[in-house]
Amino acid sequence: MRLTREEQAMLDGESGEGVRKAMEIIIALGRIYQADDLVPISSVQVSGVSYKNLGDAGLDFLEEWAGQGARARVPATLNPAGMDLSGWQELGFSPEFARCQERVISAYAALGVSPTCTCTPYLIGYVPEFGQHVAWAESSAVSYANSVLGARTNREGGPSALAAAVTGRTARYGLHQDAHRLATVVVEVDTDIHSEADAGALGYLVGQQVRNQVPYLKMEKWEANESDLKTLGAAMAASGAVALYHIAGVTPEAKAQQMIADGASTLVVDSLKPAYQALDGSAGTVDLVSLGCPHASLAELEAIASYLDGRRIVTSLWITTARATREAAERENLVARLEETGARVVADTCMVVAPVDGLGFRTMATNSAKMAFYTPAHSRLSVRFGTLEQCLDAALSGRWRVS
Ligand code: F3S
Repeated sequence: MRLTREEQAMLDGESGEGVRKAMEIIIALGRIYQADDLVPISSVQVSGVSYKNLGDAGLDFLEEWAGQGARARVPATLNPAGMDLSGWQELGFSPEFARCQERVISAYAALGVSPTCTCTPYLIGYVPEFGQHVAWAESSAVSYANSVLGARTNREGGPSALAAAVTGRTARYGLHQDAHRLATVVVEVDTDIHSEADAGALGYLVGQQVRNQVPYLKMEKWEANESDLKTLGAAMAASGAVALYHIAGVTPEAKAQQMIADGASTLVVDSLKPAYQALDGSAGTVDLVSLGCPHASLAELEAIASYLDGRRIVTSLWITTARATREAAERENLVARLEETGARVVADTCMVVAPVDGLGFRTMATNSAKMAFYTPAHSRLSVRFGTLEQCLDAALSGRWRVS
């Protein structure tokens, strides 16, 4: 593999042990994927933040690396943590868990990674430009960066993303290269999409079928908004391992040029029913409603507040979002409006990475296919999956209304 003088110096340990270790990780990955060289990156998004998933071994690894003088040399952000970093007590998390989670955040801060704790960094100002190379780890954010923004990233793991932050490089393979960005499956979507839940259901079905390939969706008149696209990509990345998708006439690369590889196969999706059958359970009562997966935008918070204004919910309702988005919502009086209804605007975390199975909930309703897909295994709750309106009606009545 060709290295520049600066890269070779990093590998030789001239910038310290922490940087040498990072460069070794990048080069080892490059060798596995037969990269010819490394590519400079403009930002990094690091996963592996919740202490629930990291445990003591992960925490020790981070603290040791920070102690070796490794520091991010490009803007680097963090994925959600296992709790709201300031509101954890009110939400019922244990002090023991909180202490360990705070140590994780401190280790990342020492490594120069901003404690943004969100899976939607692109909603809080970290927006890569079209064609820019980045190294992001959270699968839904990877999907959004590649597909909706036209940036270039592979689906990094936690350590490889951190190594990329410390070196400012990643190996040039996979989605950093033009040829790997062409679609290998054309998906004829022959069913209407009416809600973000439908978008997630479609993503679930496509991801399940195409696994880690690049799909090219052909669909009639879909006015997809930002929320639809983030939930679609999150679901595809969860049920499969889709890191890039194209939609004819919608996503930027598909608008600019022919993005279908020779010999691409075809898949037809003519009903979303199989997704709802797989993701939606049968419980009649709901005691927790989870919205904001991927983390909610200001517009989504506004839509929820408008629906609930002047009413009082009877279940728990957690709307997860980035702290920066929560702060913006506070300035617009949105948090107060939502909290008057009984809802919580929870920052820094989500129901999949937080230890919610110890909080006494039994059935969770969500409008996110990704959340519905992961929750039974991660949090051992039963799930109802449907539209935002169905979820909010469940929050108001405690019962699930079948559409
Ligand atoms: Fe984000 Fe958690 Fe969903 S990390 S994409 S809110 S499962």
